[in-house]
Amino acid sequence: MQSAQTTFENIRKDFPILKRTVRDNKPLVYLDNASTTQKPTQVIEAITDYYKNHNANIHRAVYALAEEATELYEKTRDKVADFINISNREEIIFVRGTTEAINLVAYAWGRTHVKEGDIIVTTEYEHHSNIVPWQLLTQEKGAKLEYIGMDDNGELILEDLDKLLGTGKVKLVTFSLMSNVLGTISDADKIIAKCKAAGVFTLIDGAQAIPHMKVDIEKLDCDFFAFSGHKMLGPTGIGILWVRKSILETMKPFHGGGDMIREVHKYETTWNDLPYKFEAGTPNIADVVGLGAAIDYLSKIGMDNIRQHEIELTSYAIDKLSDVKGLHIYGTKDISKRGGVISFNFADVHPHDVAQIIDEEGIAIRSGHHCAQVLMERLDVSATSRASFYIYNTKEEIDKLINSLNKVAKVFKL
Ligand code: ALA
Repeated sequence: MQSAQTTFENIRKDFPILKRTVRDNKPLVYLDNASTTQKPTQVIEAITDYYKNHNANIHRAVYALAEEATELYEKTRDKVADFINISNREEIIFVRGTTEAINLVAYAWGRTHVKEGDIIVTTEYEHHSNIVPWQLLTQEKGAKLEYIGMDDNGELILEDLDKLLGTGKVKLVTFSLMSNVLGTISDADKIIAKCKAAGVFTLIDGAQAIPHMKVDIEKLDCDFFAFSGHKMLGPTGIGILWVRKSILETMKPFHGGGDMIREVHKYETTWNDLPYKFEAGTPNIADVVGLGAAIDYLSKIGMDNIRQHEIELTSYAIDKLSDVKGLHIYGTKDISKRGGVISFNFADVHPHDVAQIIDEEGIAIRSGHHCAQVLMERLDVSATSRASFYIYNTKEEIDKLINSLNKVAKVFKL
């Protein structure tokens, strides 16, 4: 059996893109994994194999190819169920990604259950996808959107939640398990316990957390959970919404069309069983198959090993970044409370300039507001630079990042 260390050393050869060079033959140093991750050969080949050998529409025809395609598609549902530890596969809905998952809840649950005067609670460190759908819903319903604030350490102020729950008007509390900007890991157990005690539903945006740590939904005991395939080595355009069955049964369809129906008559329609009631039209079959391969790949390494690898990289990076002249790191330095995402700024240097200068060395980081403008307002900045790590990153790559940032400090005479 291979040690975790050897596994991580061998991983890079599975990722063809990591062999390429950019900008004057510089080896690619890919540190934008919070945005999207690279894909291993195993995922790329699963998609190719599907199109080469099994392509057909699912749930419709009785011929051999159609049966094979349906089986491959449904097998991924089982893999997802095991991966997030839920026992009922009817609760797993394939969607395009976290954004569509949250919009589905806001539309199909929110429009039935949220009334005038109700409160939806989100947090100051949410991605736009966990803010805008709730703005649309609360504005339409005459309900209110409120926020759990964030302290200067990048952690949620749970007293804000207590106060809001005390109003007796909160219908739903929605929060990301890991901030895509600060890497803060939310205290989900505490938040969910408080909401349960108050009889309030909870939705978790798991997009940033699920690629990087073991997530056990049965243990979390939330009501809705959303995540995307492309941040966990899978293809773009495929994601998961998990909803507790007793809630799913109270929800209206999101999209109308083929496959989500049982019978359609001129003026009325009855719905298909769960989860198909929420999967209208021909779905993204090939990418569901690709997501299945990504889950196999991650499961083989082990999510606890992945978390450990990223703890080592992130501690190393925080340590080294703290020595770069003029550089400020946002969020907590307590590694037990953060994932491998580090946002930083040099005093007056625009993050786009930082990203552009280090891109000349072949280093890819994201700069901008990271789809989190409410958080940028809270931090009182318009943008940050952000480096984010994954299983294939190494300490040598972090050294390259540090060297290039030292150059930035020199260029701007910091
Ligand atoms: N959600 C992605 C990011 O954080 C796009 O960069």
